[in-house]
Amino acid sequence: MLPEKLRKQVIYQIYPRSFKDSNNDGIGDLNGIRSQMDYLACLGVTMLWLTPIFKSPNRDNGYDVSNYYEINPEFGSESDLEKLIDSAHSKNISIMLDMVFNHTSDQHDWFQKSRAREYPYTDFYIWKDGVDGRAPKGKEAFFGGDVWQFDDLRKQYYYHTFDKKQPDLNWSEPLVRKKLADVVNYWIKKGVAGFRFDAIDYIGKKLNPIVETDIELTHKYLNELKKNSYGQDNSIITVGETGAADLKSSRRYTDFKTGELDMVFQFEFMNLDGVRSDDWIKKEFPIIKLKKLVDHWQKGLFFKGWSGQFLGSHDFPRLVSRFGSETSGYRFLSASMLATFLFGLQGTPYIYQGDEIGMSNFPWQRVDQFRDIESLNFAGKFAKQGLGPEEIVKRLADNSRDNARTPFQWSNDQYAGFSNGKPWLAVNPNFKTVNVQREINDNTSLLNYYRRLIKIRKQETLFFDGDFKMLDGENDSLFFYERFKDDRRLLVVANFSEKRYVLENKFLPKNEKDILIANYSDRSKKELFSDPNIRPFESFIYLLDKEGRQNDQK
Ligand code: NOJ
Ligand code: CA
Repeated sequence: MLPEKLRKQVIYQIYPRSFKDSNNDGIGDLNGIRSQMDYLACLGVTMLWLTPIFKSPNRDNGYDVSNYYEINPEFGSESDLEKLIDSAHSKNISIMLDMVFNHTSDQHDWFQKSRAREYPYTDFYIWKDGVDGRAPKGKEAFFGGDVWQFDDLRKQYYYHTFDKKQPDLNWSEPLVRKKLADVVNYWIKKGVAGFRFDAIDYIGKKLNPIVETDIELTHKYLNELKKNSYGQDNSIITVGETGAADLKSSRRYTDFKTGELDMVFQFEFMNLDGVRSDDWIKKEFPIIKLKKLVDHWQKGLFFKGWSGQFLGSHDFPRLVSRFGSETSGYRFLSASMLATFLFGLQGTPYIYQGDEIGMSNFPWQRVDQFRDIESLNFAGKFAKQGLGPEEIVKRLADNSRDNARTPFQWSNDQYAGFSNGKPWLAVNPNFKTVNVQREINDNTSLLNYYRRLIKIRKQETLFFDGDFKMLDGENDSLFFYERFKDDRRLLVVANFSEKRYVLENKFLPKNEKDILIANYSDRSKKELFSDPNIRPFESFIYLLDKEGRQNDQK
């Protein structure tokens, strides 16, 4: 049975640096988030996942933590976090923190002591001698360069999965595991109700003869972490970022009885177009493949385990630019269609900040506009390969995580109402038309569409406990699926293209009242509710009664 705590969750992801700046230094902060609590409550979300807010030199914007017990002063103080938690609670919203436990910053005290071989930190990281004056055998790190980096002080190499300034912790060292459990317990006591564990499927590693991830070890360590921290409080919600998880391992991570986590983020959907991989050349997004995968995961995972559902985050280009269409006529339609598609699925929906107003990719022109360490490292690599600036900007523009990190667009004031000071990353020039102020009172806006979608998602039980059935799996752009339980069923239509389709009669809504939500407003009107013609990017969700089911079975 799906645990009660997961049933009505709609989680909203905040990238604090880019959400709202309260003191005009150009960097979003905790008080800024608190100042927008009414907005978040009115949206209807139940939990806020904040990407890392701990002390960090910001090589990777907080994913390089230098102290797990201190708030990054740019974001505020611990008392600001307490106030944020209280303010959220007063609106029935809880807070999820991002725990980066695969690695720390090289500025973390543990790393500095480990470099100096200071007891008991000597083996807190993964150290090896060079071989014949060269680095030990290893692959390319995710953010470019070798996974091994030489340290001048210790005269050994350390292992890093991501950037060279993000050394991997050595989880085979029991004291590391204990210290990390202490961190989780500390934040639980402060009232934090959820944790997202960053890159968690990298923690288990065999260290010899070469360093390799080992899933059995990851399960073992996670089990122990659960037992010693969040597992002691059943109400805590956990999600693991499991970049390598397939269906089988996701089931194991999230098994309702024996799993270590409540849900995982799996990346099979999001990686279909190879974004941010290899040469960073944009490829097609194969919808038929996506359909097969959705079917595979929806049937294979649910009621055995659980996952978060997302189409965007701080790690990907904006979803409307990537899967939809930014052209003015289609921005609303395609963005609302994508949301409808996602919210109809089993799993907990996640909204990335700004997607609810249709924020899109930035019109990049020069490499020096980018800030993300990954983009900059890859720009360097492409330059070394001899690519010219234009080609480099193009590849970065299609892939860069900075697309999702531009300041949130609150209004058409200077800097989009994000700050009165110059923001750390440029505001998307489309803020004059794409912003909250413009959408909030417009009933036909994307923002208000999201509000309705969140509401029905919380009200209609089929969203949590309905089985999944793909209808018309061969169609190359129309998603059409059903969620059913006993004799009730919910149908979701989502046209991923500008093409038109005709729905079969037996699937048509029987009554205009059965349309729960539709992105073409005439769909819920008496004259058009059962029109079989599906228009560009059209999307709607409706209930079909018993009679509809009988028709289907004939
Ligand atoms: C995944 C995070 O989402 C990403 O932003 C970060 O760069 C890496 N993990 C490394 O922590
Ligand atoms: Ca600030």
